[in-house]
Amino acid sequence: MTETFKVLALAGDHIGPEVVAAGLQVLKFSADKAGLSIEVEEDLLGGASWDVDGTFCTDAVLAKAQSADAILVGAVGGPEWDDIRVDGPITQQDGLTRLRVELDVYNALRPARAWTPLLHRTPYRSEVVDGADLLVIRENSGGIYYGEPRGVERHADGSVRAFEISEYHTGEVERIARCAFEAARVRRNSVTSLDKSNVMETGKLWRETVARIGRDEYPDVTLNHLLMDFALYAVSKSPCDFDVLLADNLFGDLISDMVATVAGSLGMLPSATLPAATRAGEPIKGGIYEPTHGSAPDISGKGIANPAGTILSVAMMFEHAFARPDVTRKIESAVEDVLKAGVLTPDLGGTATTTSMTDVVLEVLA
Ligand code: IPM
Ligand code: MG
Repeated sequence: MTETFKVLALAGDHIGPEVVAAGLQVLKFSADKAGLSIEVEEDLLGGASWDVDGTFCTDAVLAKAQSADAILVGAVGGPEWDDIRVDGPITQQDGLTRLRVELDVYNALRPARAWTPLLHRTPYRSEVVDGADLLVIRENSGGIYYGEPRGVERHADGSVRAFEISEYHTGEVERIARCAFEAARVRRNSVTSLDKSNVMETGKLWRETVARIGRDEYPDVTLNHLLMDFALYAVSKSPCDFDVLLADNLFGDLISDMVATVAGSLGMLPSATLPAATRAGEPIKGGIYEPTHGSAPDISGKGIANPAGTILSVAMMFEHAFARPDVTRKIESAVEDVLKAGVLTPDLGGTATTTSMTDVVLEVLA
């Protein structure tokens, strides 16, 4: 009997449903072609969930996510829900962060590469960006996003004190450091770890711990440390000099958007957020796959969102959730062919729609 993989699709808000529809088409088509049995269930997350259930992620959706092999997320949020104030931890205020914490998906892989047909869409001269191939490894279930206590104090004089805490424990840094070294071993064997060890206690712990894991367990991988502020300069100046960029939750959030410049559009960036370090040949259950871009309310409903970030996230799902990197490579090369053919959505300077670009990806895959 062939194994059936269960995929939970949470399209979310605004362009979320538009890109997830595209991703699901590629998922089903590629699975069929590869002889892989998958079962897709769809549900609500973010504002869409708030409007129906009064919460950004219901217990029922969480339970489904906990039993799924992979979760495909579109994008959540939008101005309609910006002013909603929910008391309690961030996990009650944001559906995606609830999922990330409850599933303990601490290993966020956010690759960004230069695509030859899009070099002219980047802010770089092509000789600076050509060949750039970066992987941000972002710690994704700890740090300042979740440190306690956090809160808002309203004082009698009308002033307000808002605060949160940046905290990391040794074990949290050790496990994400191993993720970065493991990822580097199947790439170009180099990790650059980013921190603010000059001013932050968590930064000092981060640097010491990453250095120790590197020295004791991965002496074959080159490790460098950079201060986060300088790293933004150094990576944006010479993106080809870097391979794996390891950062905590907040700094990883920042740098993962910045490196989108090498791809020519934030719309091109996929991600996989996993409850384990990557490993070849064995499926990892319970990862979240989502484009790095947001819900883009300004273009929602127009049918022009770039589906590539989601399609490439589906490609990552084949590698990590289904242990089928052969299918991953096919989808990536189909996307590249479509870019070469000039079938481009407006963020890439073209006039293609979400559907027309997806249709051409499917044609190439056929
Ligand atoms: C991301 C996003 C999220 C984050 C938001 C939407 C909570 O920016 O996944 O990069 O800050 O982690
Ligand atoms: Mg972000």
